[in-house]
Amino acid sequence: MTTVEPRRTGTAEPRDRVAADETVGIRMTVNGTETTVTVPPRAHLGDVLREQLGLTGTHLGCEHGVCGMCTVLVDGEAARACLLFAVQCEGAEIVTVEGLGTPEDQHPLQQAFSAHHALQCGFCTPGMLMSSYDLLSNTPEVESEELPEQMSGVLCRCTGYRGILAAVDDVRQSHPDGVPGPRACGARTLVGRGTGGGSGAGAPAEEVPAAALAQEVRLPSGPPSAVVDVTSALRQPVERVWAVLDDFDLLARCLPGARLTEVLDGDRYRGRAVVALGPVKLSFDGLAQVVERDPAAHRLRFHAQGADAGGSATQADVVLAAEAGPDGGTVLTAHADVHLTGRVAQFGRALAGDVSRRLFEQFATSVDEAAETGSVTEPGRGAQLRLVLGTVRDTVGALVRRGLTRVRTLRRR
Ligand code: FES
Ligand code: FES
Repeated sequence: MTTVEPRRTGTAEPRDRVAADETVGIRMTVNGTETTVTVPPRAHLGDVLREQLGLTGTHLGCEHGVCGMCTVLVDGEAARACLLFAVQCEGAEIVTVEGLGTPEDQHPLQQAFSAHHALQCGFCTPGMLMSSYDLLSNTPEVESEELPEQMSGVLCRCTGYRGILAAVDDVRQSHPDGVPGPRACGARTLVGRGTGGGSGAGAPAEEVPAAALAQEVRLPSGPPSAVVDVTSALRQPVERVWAVLDDFDLLARCLPGARLTEVLDGDRYRGRAVVALGPVKLSFDGLAQVVERDPAAHRLRFHAQGADAGGSATQADVVLAAEAGPDGGTVLTAHADVHLTGRVAQFGRALAGDVSRRLFEQFATSVDEAAETGSVTEPGRGAQLRLVLGTVRDTVGALVRRGLTRVRTLRRR
């Protein structure tokens, strides 16, 4: 049995004893968004941030409190995420490096690190940024000569200290009254998957307790990872196509690998989608919410979000519009702003956009079939894999062709 006590600074009431193999629901505010995760009592905050909330900016080096890579802010103070049990953070305000700034609106510390070439391999950078933020916000009067010692709590394996200290000193001088606050904290999607595998074991999505699933779709404020615009010519007339768009259950079945699991109030729907990308297979548990349904214009807009047990999350703002096409058919257009975080975001915009586009193309074919027959043939697993492998093959082929062109260009010089 493990006794779980709240942090002394926290507002939570002491908890009952929790067995080591039980899980505990924890409510925290992470980068301005309140979130709930369900974790085993032994899970440390670093693993929960990375594995359950997909915030992989917090790096783990030693997991013994030595290297400082995992430094985050807990209630405004720098803390080692590897030395804090997540259950100690009940009611806490956590800020990770993702909350410090965005690519479009970087925090002055991030700008200074870039300007002073303080980024080498970048592994220590999140810890350095959060540690220097803590230093300059709590001790703005720190002297330049004190910085090496004050910053010594985070180790840089590349020995990039000269640039790092120059960057921190630059911000110290330009903000003598303290650095501006984090710039990327606010309502956004943090989909706590609430699995019992808090140490990053990636528990299967089937284990997600219903209470831990997101109740509301929130789209990130930043630019999308990929924008998808697809127009497809369908054979069926527009009213029949609209009947499919207007039936969310049928509509969901037209999406390759997707199925509806629960109809909620407020035009909200829970579902699961499986996406395979080469050897990587992601199973997203998600929520969709219709935000606009216009029968006269044959236009449907919905927001969707999903997260998989491996730390990937996706959100999308989708608009589907049907209009009468030539020969009694329909022109179906789909526009989607797709936001990707976690593992799935590592595939890059081109591949992510291509996969999304192909999924929509297959979706349009299924909508045409549903408009004609009232049902959809379940796309087989083989068909799904072929779709994805085709995408990978085409993308790799394009890269190879680009490489060959470059080689030829160089040879001609
Ligand atoms: S990973 Fe936390 S201090 Fe090293
Ligand atoms: S930049 Fe690589 S460890 Fe510091």
